[in-house]
Amino acid sequence: MYQLTFSLQEFLSQYWQKQPTIIKGGFANFQDPITAEELAGLTMEEEVDSRFVSNKDNVWQAEHGPFSEDKFADLGESHWSFIVQAANHWHAGAAQLVEPFKSMPQWLFDDLMISYSVKGGGVGPHIDQYDVFIIQGQGKRHWRVGAKDVGQYKEVSNHSALRQIESFEAIIDDVLEPGDILYIPPGFPHDGYAMEPSLSYSVGFRSPKEQELISNFADYVLAHDFGDTHLHKPDLATQSNFGAISSSDLASLTQMLQDNLADPIRLKDFMGCMLSQSRHQLDIVQPEPVWSAEDIAIHLESGQIIEKVAGLRALFHEDEPHLLYINGEVIKLTAAMGELAALLSGSDSLSTDAFSQPVESDAIALITDLVNKGYWFIDEE
Ligand code: SIN
Ligand code: CO
Repeated sequence: MYQLTFSLQEFLSQYWQKQPTIIKGGFANFQDPITAEELAGLTMEEEVDSRFVSNKDNVWQAEHGPFSEDKFADLGESHWSFIVQAANHWHAGAAQLVEPFKSMPQWLFDDLMISYSVKGGGVGPHIDQYDVFIIQGQGKRHWRVGAKDVGQYKEVSNHSALRQIESFEAIIDDVLEPGDILYIPPGFPHDGYAMEPSLSYSVGFRSPKEQELISNFADYVLAHDFGDTHLHKPDLATQSNFGAISSSDLASLTQMLQDNLADPIRLKDFMGCMLSQSRHQLDIVQPEPVWSAEDIAIHLESGQIIEKVAGLRALFHEDEPHLLYINGEVIKLTAAMGELAALLSGSDSLSTDAFSQPVESDAIALITDLVNKGYWFIDEE
């Protein structure tokens, strides 16, 4: 079990989206949840998003996985790294590292990225639009962080797959050791080089951009066939210039657009659907044959658990806890199923122990449906 040695609440009020900082010994007696070999194994999987970056003699190379075993054959002892995105979706041990951050909202959480670097390996100076906690695992890594980007950092194109910037003046320049955490808010340039074989775990948070909200809302409106109407304005008056858009017509059209954004129920549903979709591939496998409600009930009664797919988002609006948004779909639970709703959204697994009363048949029916969709699963090994 991973535990932070500091108060996340105090950290948030002091640093979150304000200042980068290093928390020495953010984890006490840190143990890596994964080995470099296991991580290399993940880069060979088709579904897993991975990258390899090398910078021997300052010549940058970068490529996307999946890789074959010979990729790792004669790499030499320095200046390369490989990176796995959303490692929490594919490695249960690594997913444990996200646990201490679960008092922050899941919709903001993006993924756990893990990188393995040998001496001199890194991805070069760059700026991210993410908030990230970079946890140092095995080995030591030298990090430099500059002042917030106010448009002064020039981009350089050493490789089309890398978004690097020119070097920058450091406001943080330090060596991370196992268990240390570097927090970097969006917009602060940074650069980290391994000093010896090193594992880094980046717990990343990302909020939607304004333009993503607009474009996703447009998709939502189309998918639900809302607003399939033209402007209806019977009181048209003649005008002296054919080309003029009258202020009155502009106001009517603007109103039409704003009406769509003014419906709080629609916006709430849209936000729930959008925010409940993971930005990274999920390990969803539909069971075959499907489970019957009876077998699910027996499974739970025998004291076994049903696990949630790692990274799956089951969200609810604070004032409407019975409406669950699961991976972009909305599911309405009855008021009597409040306990189930809280468990589905807030917990990694279901078991009879977690319920204060015997699990009711409509709850079993819903769980069965979620298992048959592949959102929750029974590990039969
Ligand atoms: C890395 O771990 O190599 C890159 C992390 C980052 O700077 O975003
Ligand atoms: Co970065």
